[in-house]
Amino acid sequence: MKKILVTGSVGQIGSELTMLLRELYGNNNVVAGGNRTKPTGKLLDSGPFEFVDCTDSDRISEIVKKYKIDTIYHLAAILSAVAEAKPNLAWNVNINGLYNVLEVARENKCAVFTPSSIGAFGPTTPADNTPQDTIQRPNTMYGVTKVAGELLCDYYYKRFGVDTRGVRYPGIISNETLPGGGTTDYAVDIYYEAIKHKKYTCFLKEGTFLDMMYMPDALKAAVDIMEADPSKLIHRNAFNISTMSFDPEMIADSIRKHIPEFKIAYKIDPVRQEIADSWPNNMDDSAATAEWGWSYEYDLAKMTEDMLMVLTKKLK
Ligand code: SER
Repeated sequence: MKKILVTGSVGQIGSELTMLLRELYGNNNVVAGGNRTKPTGKLLDSGPFEFVDCTDSDRISEIVKKYKIDTIYHLAAILSAVAEAKPNLAWNVNINGLYNVLEVARENKCAVFTPSSIGAFGPTTPADNTPQDTIQRPNTMYGVTKVAGELLCDYYYKRFGVDTRGVRYPGIISNETLPGGGTTDYAVDIYYEAIKHKKYTCFLKEGTFLDMMYMPDALKAAVDIMEADPSKLIHRNAFNISTMSFDPEMIADSIRKHIPEFKIAYKIDPVRQEIADSWPNNMDDSAATAEWGWSYEYDLAKMTEDMLMVLTKKLK
């Protein structure tokens, strides 16, 4: 049985991935690691929690040894909009934090899952059907850290044999924990506002297409790639994975099928608009399908139905 540490377990992906990993591998075999915020409810009650700041390598090492960890899901990271506001913090967490995790993994023979992102691409990347291997010249601090992170993970595999694996996540839509300061956050907020106020003011303009994914598919990707037969992996890190691509109008239309009076308005945030404009519209994920059998379940219509159902109950 794996012994897993999840960094960033209180975050948008971490809060749900930790619970799924506990279901799959046993509650006590999955340590939830968080930086400042102690979780509450089922995340705290269902298994061990430890404060782990990924910029503190001694602390990561201490926890890995204490629980005999063999697999680290390293989710602690600063998202794109916050990274533009605090580039120094983004560098420290996204680069130095990852370096610390990889070093501890090398010393303790752990496998490492690290998410990369659509943010690892930039304005000169082909925007449609973005290939697995292509131009990566991002012009955001988030993108710089994601490209460097992809390369660092590949390096640790090639040079030291650390079992590093990862995917490039699109914008992730979920209903458990809110994302913290990303460019794709509008696609989460819109559902909350649709239920609460039947209207939403969007910070990206209509026609801004981005790759998006519903949380259950994102979680499945994280589990499946770590379970994949390594002999089939030609790439190891940064697999493009893709399920749907839409602009704000399309998500508004899909909400209107359930809430006909829903209205969308626009107040553009120039920083996030520029970031979004530099990212792919939709990625080619055929390498992930070929090398580890990536597949997904949710398209826009199915996701909207589920989001509205879950959030209607939650926000009552
Ligand atoms: N969802 C992330 C962001 O918007 C992209 O990986 O920053």
